[in-house]
Amino acid sequence: MALQLSYLLSLLFLILLLPHSTTAQTSSNQSLGSSLTAQEKDSYWASPSGDFAFGFQQIGKGGYLLAIWSNKLPEKTIVWSANGDNLVPRGSKVELTKDGKFVLNDPAGLEIWKVDLVRSVVAYAAMLDTGNFVLASQDSSLLWQSFDHPTDTMLPSQTMSQGSKLVACYSEMNYSNGRFQFQLKSDGSLALQTRAYPTDYSYADYWPEKNISGFKVVFNQSGSIILITKNGSIVKSILSNPSSMQDFYQRAIMEYDGVLRHYVYPKSSLMPRSWSYLPNFIPSNICNSIPIDMCGSGACGYNSYCMFDGQRPKCQCPDGYTFIDPEDVMKGCKQNFLSQSCDEALPESDLFYLKSMLNTDWPGMTDYESFPEQNEDWCRTACLGDCFCAAAVYENRICWKKKAPLPNGRIDSSFKGKALIKIRKDNSTLKPLGADLKKKDQSTVILIVSVLLSSSVFLNLLFLLAVFLLVFRFKYWKPKAHKPYPVMPGMNLRSYTYEELTEATNGFREELGRGAFAKVYNGVLESEDRKLVAVKRLNDMVRDGDLEFKAEVSAIDRTNHRNLVQLLGFCNEGQHRLLVYEFMSNGSIASILFGGSRPNWHQRIQIALGTAKRLFYLLEECSTQIIHCDIKPQNILLDDSFIARISDFGLAKLLKTDQTRTTTSIRGTKGYVAPKWFRHMPVTAKVDVYSFGVLLLELICCRKSFEVEAQDEDRMILADWAYDCFKERKLDLLVENDEEALDDVKRVENYVMIAIWCIQEDPSLRPTMKKVVQMMVGAVEVSFLPGPSSFSSSL
Ligand SMILES: *[C@@H]1O[C@H](CO)[C@@H](O)[C@H](O)[C@H]1NC(C)=O
Ligand SMILES: *[C@@H]1O[C@H](CO)[C@@H](O)[C@H](O)[C@H]1NC(C)=O
Ligand SMILES: *[C@@H]1O[C@H](CO)[C@@H](O)[C@H](O)[C@H]1NC(C)=O
Ligand SMILES: *[C@@H]1O[C@H](CO)[C@@H](O)[C@H](O)[C@H]1NC(C)=O
Repeated sequence: MALQLSYLLSLLFLILLLPHSTTAQTSSNQSLGSSLTAQEKDSYWASPSGDFAFGFQQIGKGGYLLAIWSNKLPEKTIVWSANGDNLVPRGSKVELTKDGKFVLNDPAGLEIWKVDLVRSVVAYAAMLDTGNFVLASQDSSLLWQSFDHPTDTMLPSQTMSQGSKLVACYSEMNYSNGRFQFQLKSDGSLALQTRAYPTDYSYADYWPEKNISGFKVVFNQSGSIILITKNGSIVKSILSNPSSMQDFYQRAIMEYDGVLRHYVYPKSSLMPRSWSYLPNFIPSNICNSIPIDMCGSGACGYNSYCMFDGQRPKCQCPDGYTFIDPEDVMKGCKQNFLSQSCDEALPESDLFYLKSMLNTDWPGMTDYESFPEQNEDWCRTACLGDCFCAAAVYENRICWKKKAPLPNGRIDSSFKGKALIKIRKDNSTLKPLGADLKKKDQSTVILIVSVLLSSSVFLNLLFLLAVFLLVFRFKYWKPKAHKPYPVMPGMNLRSYTYEELTEATNGFREELGRGAFAKVYNGVLESEDRKLVAVKRLNDMVRDGDLEFKAEVSAIDRTNHRNLVQLLGFCNEGQHRLLVYEFMSNGSIASILFGGSRPNWHQRIQIALGTAKRLFYLLEECSTQIIHCDIKPQNILLDDSFIARISDFGLAKLLKTDQTRTTTSIRGTKGYVAPKWFRHMPVTAKVDVYSFGVLLLELICCRKSFEVEAQDEDRMILADWAYDCFKERKLDLLVENDEEALDDVKRVENYVMIAIWCIQEDPSLRPTMKKVVQMMVGAVEVSFLPGPSSFSSSL
């Protein structure tokens, strides 16, 4: 009976016990063969209390993260993750396999992550209420726990042993390893460190606690994070907490911005419910904590600066710079403008200015010069005149020059100096013009009409030789569709079929312009990302077309340069000869100068200077001198950034073999070549200097060199009128109603003088292009005062 009773009692006990233990079992203990699959609906194993869950979280559209999160709070806070560097797609599966392994596989069965176990075999997995996910053996001994492999977060009751670290995420929503870490080093000291992203190495300790040594970091039950010795005595309190564990959820996290913070979340719904952090975060001001003598960009990315508002650091870009990736501001800032050229011949210093930024500094590794006992003006001039100088910092009569990229940027009221950051002047003002320039200039591309009539036997011989070489070389040209064809080493021209180009131009429908020997059409290359091109089709009847064609290809080829309109490819099929150029979206100078909206004075200066420099390059710097012979507003095209580029050059030289047919156009373009040039003079660089002079006057006055309809007969020929105005010191007439130019009358005068100097009838009196550029940028005084006798107006 006694036996029966005890039997009954134990049965009763079991019945009472069973339902309870089975639910607990399924909710927290996962047996062999259990798995979770990444899917739209949350899929997870919760801890018994439901505070934490282990499973898949979808991260944006990027994929799924295998993670542990606090599951009871409205915002699910991730406290641990397995595959931050390698999100997995839907359908991926984490499984406690029958043979006791714990692995994450993608839908194809490829292993993404696994728990490394030494010989032991797992019996079950459990999500515990502490936020610790464990794998245990049959006898319940722990084989692996997430607390031993933290990511960026520590939870109450978690410990860190020597050598372990919390690595910050890359950004708020990107769980890849980031740029900062908190480490208990193997010697027992503590440090916050910058990481050599994307590797696992570290650069600088920025919160070193060197002269201490501890055994473990503990997040203890009263919510303090402490460093303790082996026997449990406290070495240091790292973050301590006045809020109690009963009333608050807690976590400590190494955040993506480099700050170690202790967050609390009230358990009671009577308090405002959100995570807030305690004010004792480390370091107290990240912006000026990171050592400046180490590699790395500092608290923010390169070229940016860090501003601390007492709560969080904020990364910002200086004027003239924008974020490389606005979604990832710590990636740094990029220049919005072309850097200063280091070409001595083209002093560019007046194209830049220095923006002063009070209390701002980029201390450290980028200083390459320092000059004590200088004033600020001296410092400014020194940086502007130095193409390496990206910024100067001036403090206490010391001038530091800094080179790019600028690290460790910060703004801090305790720094009494200022940064002077170098920015190109007229970049931004050049942009807005684009909107009303959509209509293309009908005369954008005009074929060369000037012809060589040189009396120099030597030059002729030279050209004959060139022709011979060209013919020889081009004999091997065969059109090969879809294949870059190396014309010269280092240069790839594509060969197009006639059919392709017919298609691209829609059957040569939209004409952009025409010349004596060619027409130019608008085209779209479907096969190359719908790239816009200008297709120049040489007239089939031109007898020497072949020669012209090859000459132009070769001339552009030899001078391929960012200053020139780029040749992309060609077609040479039967009698069809076509050239394919990049499309210049902003048309020619003619279209903006004589079109409806005239560019402002500064834009005109930039265009004039740009053109002068390009010509200088072609005439004096290029290994083969190229005399263009037809410089005029229609042939200077503007790219997306309104940078002037020269088109249609070089062909003239080789046209001489057919002089008879072109005698009518041997003057180049009327108004842009010196009146007597074609009769008596050999072709020299001075031909282009003359044309440039005319162009410069047009740019100053915003009008054509020759206007038949001018109300005032005296004003019909621009050069004459400009000369008269100059003589009578009435330059303001030339730039009537142009406030900006009137404010800059000294420059107007200089430019008019340069222009008049360029259009001297006697070529030997004209300046070189180099001198023109130097005078325009003010590196050389404009000294020449043209006398009336040397100036001819007979056009
Ligand atoms: C999980 O399983 C282990 C071993 O069988 C057992 O000791 C433990 O109590 C179980 N945990 C829960 C919450 O049921
Ligand atoms: C996280 O950032 C890194 C570095 O920029 C990037 O390579 C990675 O694709 C990002 N991950 C996600 C999920 O966006
Ligand atoms: C946790 O650490 C704090 C600060 O050092 C200490 O005052 C407190 O007694 C510790 N609590 C426990 C439960 O060990
Ligand atoms: C400045 O010019 C550069 C190069 O021409 C261009 O890439 C950039 O977008 C321009 N910036 C602005 C603000 O116009």
